[in-house]
Amino acid sequence: MTKKSTDVCPYQRAWSLDNWLRKILQNPYKIVGRYIKEGQTVLDLGCGPGFFSLAMAKLVGEEGRVISVDIQDEMLQILKNKSKRQGLNSRIFLHKAQPEKLGISEMTDFALAFYMVHEVPDKKSFLSEVASHLKPDGRFLIVEPKFHVSKSNFDTTLEVASSVGLEQVSGPKFPFDRAVLLKLGSREKNLILQKSS
Ligand SMILES: C[S@@+](CC[C@H](N)C(=O)[O-])C[C@H]1O[C@@H](n2cnc3c(N)ncnc32)[C@H](O)[C@@H]1O
Repeated sequence: MTKKSTDVCPYQRAWSLDNWLRKILQNPYKIVGRYIKEGQTVLDLGCGPGFFSLAMAKLVGEEGRVISVDIQDEMLQILKNKSKRQGLNSRIFLHKAQPEKLGISEMTDFALAFYMVHEVPDKKSFLSEVASHLKPDGRFLIVEPKFHVSKSNFDTTLEVASSVGLEQVSGPKFPFDRAVLLKLGSREKNLILQKSS
């Protein structure tokens, strides 16, 4: 399952990812609010111009951290400017990834990959890397657009997720999207608990 880097949503289309219509159709607080608590460390993978990162920064509060990851400097710069304007820059940590490697170091309570997994060239490596940065009770929400990602492609992603030790918790329902909430399987969770004891 490889994908060319030319399939990545270009930064020139950032406006289409953060506007008033999207706030109505995909209210970020409704989508991720139930999974995030104050003080947590959370990941926004493929953050783009930060439609979710900014909401996540409000949800984690002053003591929390949002690690916003993207492969495009321009997307990260747009988010940097917005987070400064909104006084949220002390909670949002920008991280430039490579298409084949996220390269993050923090363990996370919640990870979001909204409309980005279909752009990742090596899904197995990506999902495995995310799994290795989930805390034992962490959750990982993947949302993909129905207009880009067929059911069979999404099912393949679920199979790959399962092969790297991620278990399905639920399948949240969104009108235009395919979504899954994942957690670590018991084997992977026990391994982390053993390492930390
Ligand atoms: C369609 S945009 C979605 C942006 C954001 N999640 C949203 O919903 O507004 C996909 C983003 O994922 C980023 N991306 C693509 N492949 C990536 C990878 N391998 N690692 C990190 N980010 C990636 C792109 O640069 C782009 O900003």
